[in-house]
Amino acid sequence: MTVQDTDANLNENIGWKDKPKDDPQVVKLINHLEAHNGIKGLDIIEATAIERAVELFHRDGFVVVGDVLNNEQIDFLAKGCDEVINDILALDGTRYGNRGSHRYSFGGSSMTRSQLHHPAWQMMLENETVHTLLNAIFGSPDYSLRAASGDFCLPGATDYQPLHPDTRDWEDAKTTPFNSFIDPRGHMSLRDLPSPYVCVNFLPQDVTKLNGPTRQIPGTQNSRARIPNLKHEPEWMRLSTVCPAPAGAIMIRDVRAWHGGTPNVSDAIRSIPNLEFYAPWFREPIVPGITYQDFKKLSPRAQELAKFCVADSSEELITGPTLQAP
Ligand SMILES: [Fe+2]
Repeated sequence: MTVQDTDANLNENIGWKDKPKDDPQVVKLINHLEAHNGIKGLDIIEATAIERAVELFHRDGFVVVGDVLNNEQIDFLAKGCDEVINDILALDGTRYGNRGSHRYSFGGSSMTRSQLHHPAWQMMLENETVHTLLNAIFGSPDYSLRAASGDFCLPGATDYQPLHPDTRDWEDAKTTPFNSFIDPRGHMSLRDLPSPYVCVNFLPQDVTKLNGPTRQIPGTQNSRARIPNLKHEPEWMRLSTVCPAPAGAIMIRDVRAWHGGTPNVSDAIRSIPNLEFYAPWFREPIVPGITYQDFKKLSPRAQELAKFCVADSSEELITGPTLQAP
C-alpha cells in the first residue's frame, strides 16, 4: 500500500467495531462531550514564551505549546503515523488494541518498544524549540532520550482509560522491569522528587472535544493520594481534557501526573506520537531503538540526546509491528 492509498483509506471503516456511532448511548456521550469536555481556559503557550511554559509545567504537571511544527513537518509526521498505524492494524482486525479496545501504544506495538527507527520520530528529535523548552524545564542540557513512542486511538474508542501515571517506584524485576527508583528506607517515593522523566507529545492533527483528548489532572505530579478508578472518578476529572489544541502543538507532560485516554467518537484517528526524556540525574533500563548506522545520520545534538538508545554497531535491530512488545 502506498502512502497516498494510506491517506485515502485509513479513516474509512477503520473503527466502530464495538458499537455503531448511532447507538443511543454513544449519541448521548457525544452530546455530553460537545457541551462540557475540555479544561476551561486551557492556555496554549507561544513557543517563544519559555519562562511561562516552564512555570505552567511545574504548576500543573503539563503544558501545551503551540506552533512547534510547521505545516510541512505536520504533514510528514501525520504520514509517518499513518504508515505505522496501517502496519499495526493489519495485525488486529477486531480492533482489540493494546491499551483497551481501539487504543494502541506506538511503542508497545513495536518489536523494539520504540519507533526511533522511523524518520517521523527522528524528525521530532531534531526540533530545536523542544530542545530549548527541555533545557529550561530540566535546568540543564544533559537530559537524555528514553524512548520514541506515543499512542493513537481509533474512532469508536468509546471507553475511558483509567487514570494512571506512566512511571512508578521499582518493586521487583518481574513487576517493574523498566523502573528503577527505590528508597530502601521506605521514606521517599519517585513522587517526592523533581520531575524525573518528561514526555513530549506532538500533535499531527487538531485535538478536539470528540477525538480522544488526553485528560490531565492538574497538579497531581507529586500527589501520593490514591488515584480514583473509573467507578469512583468524579465527572470533573473525566472532562479535564487537553483540548482544543491545534495540529503542530506539543504537550509536555510530567509522566507522574494523573492522566488517561478518553473516547474518540469522531470519524478519524487521533495520534499523539511522543519522545520521552530522562532528567540529567535519572536513568532506568533502556532498550535500543535505533541502529548505530541510522544513529550516525542524526544531527550532533540528536545523537547526544539519543546516546542511550543506540544499538551496538555489530547489532542488527529487528523492527516491525507487534501487539505483544517484549
Ligand atoms: Fe499513560
